[in-house]
Amino acid sequence: MQEILSHDLVIFGAGLAGLRSAIEASRISNGDIDIAVVTKNQMMRAHSVGAEGGTAAVLHMDEGDSLELHSWDTVKGSDFLADQNVVDRFVRIIPNEIRQLDHWGIPWTRREDGKISQRPFGGHSYPRAVCAADKTGFFELQTLYDTLAKYENITHYNEYYITSILIENNQFRGLAAVSMTTGKFVLIRAKALIIASGGSGTLFGFTTYSQTVTGDGLALAYRAGLNLEDMEFVQFHPTGLVPSGILMTEACRGEGGYLVNNKGERFMSKYAPEKMELAPRDLVSRSEMTEIEEGRGFKGPNGLDYIHLDLRHLGADKINDRLPLIREVCIEYIDLDPILEPIPCRPVAHYSMGGIETDIEGATRIPGIWVAGEAACVSLHGANRLGSNSTAECLVWGKIVGEHAANYCKQNKDLPPQPDKAFENEVKRVFDDIIGKSGKEDMYKLRRELRTCMDKNVGVFRTKEGMEEALKIIKDLKKRYEDINIVDKSHAYNTNLIHALELKNLIDLAEVMVTGGVVRTESRGAHSRRDYKIRDDKKWLKHTLAAYTPDGPKLSYKPVTITTWKPVERKY
Ligand code: FUM
Repeated sequence: MQEILSHDLVIFGAGLAGLRSAIEASRISNGDIDIAVVTKNQMMRAHSVGAEGGTAAVLHMDEGDSLELHSWDTVKGSDFLADQNVVDRFVRIIPNEIRQLDHWGIPWTRREDGKISQRPFGGHSYPRAVCAADKTGFFELQTLYDTLAKYENITHYNEYYITSILIENNQFRGLAAVSMTTGKFVLIRAKALIIASGGSGTLFGFTTYSQTVTGDGLALAYRAGLNLEDMEFVQFHPTGLVPSGILMTEACRGEGGYLVNNKGERFMSKYAPEKMELAPRDLVSRSEMTEIEEGRGFKGPNGLDYIHLDLRHLGADKINDRLPLIREVCIEYIDLDPILEPIPCRPVAHYSMGGIETDIEGATRIPGIWVAGEAACVSLHGANRLGSNSTAECLVWGKIVGEHAANYCKQNKDLPPQPDKAFENEVKRVFDDIIGKSGKEDMYKLRRELRTCMDKNVGVFRTKEGMEEALKIIKDLKKRYEDINIVDKSHAYNTNLIHALELKNLIDLAEVMVTGGVVRTESRGAHSRRDYKIRDDKKWLKHTLAAYTPDGPKLSYKPVTITTWKPVERKY
């Protein structure tokens, strides 16, 4: 069964960036354009709800913070790979987004004097993470969702899995999707598309991401002909709970928590004597791994050795008031009360600095397609994102692309031609070719192998040998994928099919990530090589672009925009 739906604007993803863009597009057009928000999950189930610690913005200039300081921290944190014009634009817009959410009713944590409270975060030289206790993402998404409810021009498509972005004659034509609940194959025609589908973190086994984050938007855009940019830069957050990987927010350290080795030492004094636990994430993660590798960690299950995140000295009141979720998660998941005991943590895959290449407006090279949030590489974070700059990016570029896409829809009166042939081909590819697979490979085994290989070879420290081994495994998985067995042959609620489509996306993205990593023979930000230990600005002060070919990504490069700060040695 097939169905054709038509809207002016379709938004792929219902997280912070997606909902913020929907609100802006509605607002700009006075509710005149017809908007679809499509998610494979359900509203309020996007991974954005998992954001915990805060959203960075300069709010209290009278108390010592400044836009320049936020820019500098971000550029230095990025190891000078961020585009500085992008950073400048970001820091100017985000304070208004914080106030806008305040007007929309978010329960920001407040100070005694009633002003919005801000906490310290790694790599920032001023406490500028605005928060709602340690459930910031949840409250941000809830506020956007509630605000969106007042617009009548929005249709929500829950549990629609998008299988392809249809582009013809260099123009966006629509999305192909499976309605999971009905089993119908659906063509969603629209004039414009915003991709806001998040990152690709479940490429790794030990990760903070929800299992739904499978890089769908990135992989589909890549196969549709858009470039991916800087994909080799993956962020490892210093404090993933052992053994699940659940995020123990950086706010734990922002509120004063310590990182301690098995000798009882606050080891960050060796690696970042000034910033200590609040150094940027790439540096803290490397420090933890060094402690563990040199025998100063604690033995964990399945090789998940760890260090301690110690909150005990903060006291019960502060932990209950500022970090209630952390306490609840520790008690629920590992039966440990952080008021009484230190938390076992280690670096965990957390964020993708790379994404779909866009310009500063969030526009891609295809007219009618914009990208926002983690799916985009607008080039704000460079080689290492600062904590609390990502929810901020979602809000800022959600707003920007929402406005552009709405204006584009108003200017273009008619829908582009219907992509009949491409859609028919897609229905056949998914419902015949993929569901029809009855090979000998167990796709869940392939998925586990992919994650094990990424955890082992593409982690905090990397080498040529390790990454080449990973690439060999990935290419082999690509071949074996052709011979998988789809057990469930039905169309409705076929999670077997969805997992197969997700796995293909993950495999393609892993190939891009590792190919870019092998070639980049330097250490910069989160891409830290044991065989090329220093940053090489002469050769590598440039962005990696990856274009799809059936045989693997074709790499090219483009310059970094440097407007204010020349790269210097990065010390904390
Ligand atoms: O640690 C955290 O709360 C994560 C924040 C972020 O990734 O920005």
